[in-house]
Amino acid sequence: MLARPSLAAGIALCLVACGDDAAPPVDRSQPADFLAELELAAIDDADPDPRVLEVTLRASITELEVVAGLTTPAWTYAGALPGPLLRVTAGDRVVVHFENDLPEPTTVHWHGIRLPAAMDGSPHSQEPVEPGGTFTYDFVAPDPGLYWYHPHIHDAAQIGFGLYGALLVDPVEPAPADLGDEVVMVLSDISIDDEGALSSPDQGGDIATLFGREGEDVLVNGRVLPTMRARNGKRQRWRVVNAAKSRYFLLGLTGHTFTRIGGQMGLLEAAEEVDEVLLAPGERADLLVTPKGDEGAIEQLMWLPFDRGYGSTEFRPPKAILEVELVGAPLDDVPVPALPATPFEPLDPAGAEQVEVRLTSAQDEEGKLILGINGVPYDGTTSLPATVGQTQLWTVVNEMEWDHPFHLHGFFFHEVNEEGAPRREWVDTVNVPRESSTSFLVRYDNRPGMWMFHCHILDHADAGMMGMVELLP
Ligand code: C2O
Ligand code: CU
Repeated sequence: MLARPSLAAGIALCLVACGDDAAPPVDRSQPADFLAELELAAIDDADPDPRVLEVTLRASITELEVVAGLTTPAWTYAGALPGPLLRVTAGDRVVVHFENDLPEPTTVHWHGIRLPAAMDGSPHSQEPVEPGGTFTYDFVAPDPGLYWYHPHIHDAAQIGFGLYGALLVDPVEPAPADLGDEVVMVLSDISIDDEGALSSPDQGGDIATLFGREGEDVLVNGRVLPTMRARNGKRQRWRVVNAAKSRYFLLGLTGHTFTRIGGQMGLLEAAEEVDEVLLAPGERADLLVTPKGDEGAIEQLMWLPFDRGYGSTEFRPPKAILEVELVGAPLDDVPVPALPATPFEPLDPAGAEQVEVRLTSAQDEEGKLILGINGVPYDGTTSLPATVGQTQLWTVVNEMEWDHPFHLHGFFFHEVNEEGAPRREWVDTVNVPRESSTSFLVRYDNRPGMWMFHCHILDHADAGMMGMVELLP
């Protein structure tokens, strides 16, 4: 009877005293300047209702120092490069009062969002917004995931000049708090001359169009080689979008792997451990990464050459695009919490209508490069028919010697392999490798109208590799 209280007292004493002597409490917080160089612009929400995001978004030319020492007249949303991060919860309403202060017409397309056709921001769903004009986008964002917004007129030029931003849709059930510190990364590139001026969007002629123009300066959240100061060994969740007009990003973090927990919509049923992550233009990834190493070490996020056809890997060394400085002694790992996967029901191929779409190239009489769909360069008049409720099995055939990232507006689809087995992931953009083909199933819900599809190498889209689905009631 006497021994027990004294034993308990002894333990209690040791917990206080020995703990004090041995080690100070472990600091797991991120340094105050964690994202100082990666901060995305914020935007005011004019609607007090937590389920409505209402913003005024003005496109204008803004002088920015993108490359150190040079002033560049970038094309921006809300004066920022990239545009402000828009963030809502699935099911929220998004109201965007758009104002065009640019010297040419534009629209805003909400890449990946299942919205009504009239809000899609394509030149078939609305009149272009003229300089000085306005348009109000008003839609519900139904699905969790990382999306993005960009113009849909003179796409290659306007996006290349800086018009893009991220739209993050959180799930209704919030992710576990210890999943990781979230970082939204908008990857892009820009082409600036020695005086800071934007390079002409048709520089290099047809050859450059055929390859797809990549800007020399790679940007992460609008900055050239920014630094992140990260707690050493603390897990992060990277939400990454490739907003470049042509550049593919094959990403690797020196000495680290990624856990890919999601792609374009929601969370995967089974996370995958990968050394590298490929993002074709328009694609997104949801990644867990734990930067860890010697205190003070700098790890580099690398752009790695990816073979998307002739000229894409030759004489192109890997390039660091972000530096991660490890702050403090390495922390112990914390297990990844269980994640609520987004339910995935594959579509039934039985009875699906077959659609073949060939990505084609040709030359006109003057020898000028013409890209097209099934041999027809886009002119806004031809469309493929579909009806509400229908399922289609698309085969996208790429006979060219370059890869093409294929994007369908407004609907998610899932790939199927040659045996008809689904890839268990909903996407709106998929890379179609060169001299190859990709098949997918898509089901049209009740949102009739004109829906565009195109290559997301925007030089290719502008050169004619673009088409439309007319979805009939
Ligand atoms: Cu990112 Cu036609 O779209
Ligand atoms: Cu293409």
